[in-house]
Amino acid sequence: MRHHERVSFGSRLGAILAAAGSAVGLGNIWRFPFEAGNHGGAAFILIYLGCVFIFGLPIMISEFIIGRHSKASTGRAYAVLAPGTPWKWVGYLGVLTGFLILGYYSVVSGWTLEYIFQAATGGFSGKTPDEFVAMFNDFSKDPLRPLLWLFVFMGLTHFVIVKGVKSGIEKSSKIMMPLLFVLIILLAVCSIMLPGAGKGIEFLLKPDFSKVTSDVFLGAMGQAFFSLSLGMGCLSTYASYFSKDIRLGHTAMSVGLIDTCVSVLAGLVIFPAAFSVGIQPDAGPSLIFITLPNVFQQAFGNIPALAYICAVAFYVLLALAALTSTISLHEVATAFLHEKFQFSRGKAARLISCLCLLIGIVASLSLGDWSEYRIASLTIFDALDFLTAKIMLPFGGMLAAIFVGWFLNRKIVRDEVTNNGRIKAPYYSLFLFILKFVAPIGISFIFINELGWLG
Ligand code: PFF
Repeated sequence: MRHHERVSFGSRLGAILAAAGSAVGLGNIWRFPFEAGNHGGAAFILIYLGCVFIFGLPIMISEFIIGRHSKASTGRAYAVLAPGTPWKWVGYLGVLTGFLILGYYSVVSGWTLEYIFQAATGGFSGKTPDEFVAMFNDFSKDPLRPLLWLFVFMGLTHFVIVKGVKSGIEKSSKIMMPLLFVLIILLAVCSIMLPGAGKGIEFLLKPDFSKVTSDVFLGAMGQAFFSLSLGMGCLSTYASYFSKDIRLGHTAMSVGLIDTCVSVLAGLVIFPAAFSVGIQPDAGPSLIFITLPNVFQQAFGNIPALAYICAVAFYVLLALAALTSTISLHEVATAFLHEKFQFSRGKAARLISCLCLLIGIVASLSLGDWSEYRIASLTIFDALDFLTAKIMLPFGGMLAAIFVGWFLNRKIVRDEVTNNGRIKAPYYSLFLFILKFVAPIGISFIFINELGWLG
């Protein structure tokens, strides 16, 4: 029988940057600051870091094992590794989760294009804080304009996906990720140098444990899964393109580190600047769309060119970060259709883009004309965010941990983390202990505590 070689990333760096490209996104720059702002700043961040190390990295390595060993996208990986068992539903759940996230995530991604446009055409200049609030409200509630940008953004994602794994995903990540890193460091430096920025740094670094409730734990756990792209098999799909010499533990550490650094840097861009101009840190999802244009105007008002450059650079950065993540979300579903039903990549991608656009349209309208349609008092947009980030991702991650910890042949697990005995994996016993006990019990405990499943 002839084997078709599965396409793989061309280099170790390419693989790390593609996975980091998936992880680093709106979750770091849009979602992290408002979650931290709403949950008490540094206390939230400490709990978040705990979630990254205790649950995040071991589950990331599990997803890598599942993807690389099965050589299949997540929708098929469980069926390949555990044929004839109900585990295949975990794969399907991942595809569904990715689909729902891509729907509403693309809406916010589209907003970044509107803000690049506004920033570049001088739409920010001379506006007062109230006018920025009005600008965001008018835009996000407009029935057409956000949809236009949603279409453009989905078109960009579609374009890269159709180009394929090496010349689409890997190449774009190799250009976009370093650019993003340089931009965010420059912006953080500008922000920290503003007068009165110290209070923002304190907010980020000095924990206030009186703010810690069970809600904070669920928020931090959901944020960790969302930000690291875990729990829906996104990284497992990317790992199916990993070659045999990629070190899974090392790659997971690199991705976790890059992702956490970008989140903290995003905090260092946003909070010092917000405090410097007297804006509340708990402004919610609109934080970066209302406070930041304001901040650029007020902070650099007497050097208009600097205000202009910072504003354009920031929204370009946000759009790039979002794009590398929408690509990874799209890839999960596209690869699934391509492998399972033998659709061409182009046909699979067209189908997914169209279906996600439909979800995106509903999510976008739910912030304006359709805001009276609610699910448990949440708009459809917020309900999608809650359901996916706080329930489906941690649940999917827990199942991946149980699968690798309890079900998968131990020799496969050991061979994958040691590259068939060629490298050492001193963390192996701890890793297994976390997968078998700590992750399932810890995640269930947070669910039960917050969602009141015990009544
Ligand atoms: N990690 C991305 C972010 O932080 O923006 C979002 C994301 C991408 C979540 C891929 C889940 C996923 F599978």
